[in-house]
Amino acid sequence: MATGHEKVETNIGLMLILVIIIISIGGLVQIVPLFFQDSLTEPVAGLKPYSALRLEGRDVYVREGCNTCHSQMIRPFRAETERYGHYSVAGEFVYDRPFLWGSKRTGPDLHRVGGRYSDEWHRVHMINPRDVVPESIMPGYPWLAENVLDDSDIQAKMTTLRTLGHPYSDDEINAAPKELAGKTELDALIAYLQGLGIELQAGR
Ligand code: HEC
Repeated sequence: MATGHEKVETNIGLMLILVIIIISIGGLVQIVPLFFQDSLTEPVAGLKPYSALRLEGRDVYVREGCNTCHSQMIRPFRAETERYGHYSVAGEFVYDRPFLWGSKRTGPDLHRVGGRYSDEWHRVHMINPRDVVPESIMPGYPWLAENVLDDSDIQAKMTTLRTLGHPYSDDEINAAPKELAGKTELDALIAYLQGLGIELQAGR
């Protein structure tokens, strides 16, 4: 007579089913509570959805592949917090679709770069990084200063994000094309960078 254990060990089908059940329980125990933990699902105090200009700047950032060299995720280690500031928390990314955390750092982490430099510094740096950081290996992006923003789909983008829970008002969506009028891609990118991570910066 096969004992209980022997039955499982000699029947691969039964073993598979039991293994799947056990792994599912383990997974649920880890994952489900995260959906109910406010600190992981609620925006941090002061966090607002991206303005029309910053939203366009974020798209330029993604298009140009800035995230292939820059992370936006400060880990909770002393070496990181001394250099960059407060470590990143989940509530700062609720309006990031998709998030741009990354892990490869050819350049520094940018999560708390907001307000660290003047707009003018960024302007010079983006056109030719070596003009402000002589040893920089970052490429220049001079065309961003010439490309005027395309505002044709900004309202559709904001409306789509609203259906996903980003609290844009009708007024904000109506005013979006006006906010972009006459702005270059560089203006938008700088606006995006200047707002990064400011909610949890010291002294704010
Ligand atoms: C090939 C890798 C690479 C790419 C791509 C890249 N960077 Fe950089 N970036 C660097 C390096 C290296 C530095 C550090 C030297 C310097 O300041 O120029 C840097 C520095 C920066 C800084 C200053 C950060 C600080 O705290 O001093 C900003 C802001 C920045 N990059 C933004 C961008 C943006 C925006 C893009 C995309 C348009 C981009 N980078 C693309 C490598 C890169």
